[in-house]
Amino acid sequence: MKKETIHPAKALTGGLELPGDKSISHRYAMLSALAEGTSELRHFAAARDCHSTLGCVKALGVGVRVEGSTVKISGHGLRGLKSSWRTLDAENSGTTIRLLSGILSGQGFTTKITGDTSLQKRPMKRVVTPLRQMGADIRAREDNFPPLEIHGGALHAIHYEMPMASAQVKSAVLLAGLYANGETLITEPAKTRDHTELALELFGAPIEKRGQTIAIQGMAGGNGAAALHSQSLDVPGDISSAVFFIAAASVLPESNLFIGNVGLNPTRSAILDFFQGMGAAISVVNLRTAQYELVGDLVVKGARLKGGLISGELVPLLIDELPMLAALGPFTEDGIEIRDAGELRVKESDRIAALAENLKRMGAKVEERPDGLRVERSSSGKIRGAEIEPRGDHRIAMAFAVAGLAAEGETVILDPDCAAISYPAFFAELRRVAQQ
Ligand code: S3P
Repeated sequence: MKKETIHPAKALTGGLELPGDKSISHRYAMLSALAEGTSELRHFAAARDCHSTLGCVKALGVGVRVEGSTVKISGHGLRGLKSSWRTLDAENSGTTIRLLSGILSGQGFTTKITGDTSLQKRPMKRVVTPLRQMGADIRAREDNFPPLEIHGGALHAIHYEMPMASAQVKSAVLLAGLYANGETLITEPAKTRDHTELALELFGAPIEKRGQTIAIQGMAGGNGAAALHSQSLDVPGDISSAVFFIAAASVLPESNLFIGNVGLNPTRSAILDFFQGMGAAISVVNLRTAQYELVGDLVVKGARLKGGLISGELVPLLIDELPMLAALGPFTEDGIEIRDAGELRVKESDRIAALAENLKRMGAKVEERPDGLRVERSSSGKIRGAEIEPRGDHRIAMAFAVAGLAAEGETVILDPDCAAISYPAFFAELRRVAQQ
């Protein structure tokens, strides 16, 4: 098996550009597939997950051309998808299967969709329940897990009060709402990323925000006159990928790192506030808005980090950054505590178990709990390099590579290629900016 060896470093220096945002790339790809005409998506995510989405929409008869990081997608309108004789493969991507389920529920044909062994263990009931209420007929293994068999058809609008804070569930319902008769409403119990709402507006869908509720008018339910319009778009850099470099630059005292073109949508940038609250030295420069999304450049220097507690409504806003925060725990003054985050157990791996196990391998003191963990600060010099088993989970592999930079001795990351799920160039970039 391939391995990546991480040596202790004293600084991260120089400049860095991130791959395109994974969440935004999925949404632009799907809406381009439903629009009329050819959309051009520049700086499209290199993430393997987003290429899983491209594979699925291609199988549904959509034209997809990949030219480096530019993707051209030719859609034939909301009613332009064709049934696929083969089962769609979302591979490792929860966003692909859950968002596409919303779209597939509105089609006049049946689709089977599945994924890899990790995805086949992830719960789908959360999207199946509202989509059934809208009129879709969906079968799932044990009524919860992929493969899904989605018998699409005429959908009706509902008002869905989401029992959980999930951008994927919200998005599946909004995308199905495009195909429903009437106005679909969805109310969130807590704020989650709003890229679907912004992208729908960009492509011309009648969507509106009313407090915690989002309303979308069906476009394809009646005689299908309304259409989404193809777009020419730039995808901002992925802040959830930036976090590994922000953490490493913060924890290594002599760092001075420039990170260009980072997506700073307020539903994603809580991580910057959290870092700043811990005492990190991050400045945001050159703030601008592009296609309703906020973008800026970051300068990160080394600083002492206090640590802190993540719980309640902060959890959905930091959900993908929690592995990095937990792995930073030993290097903070008060440690890191995560509560109310049972969701972490049903991500690409059981992230609570994966974090606890690998932190212990490095000699950290950890208390694992059903809905989170507490990671104690180390009384200096006790965190040592170790062999890390990322359980096929990209964010675990990257988080422990960063911990390895700040530990004593060598850290070996097993199966490092799993980082490609969100960031194929991660280890090459880390080697380039790390100073030993
Ligand atoms: C995502 C939403 C989040 C996040 C995932 C991407 C999205 O999942 O963890 O990596 O693009 O909508 P949930 O909506 O399940 O919290």
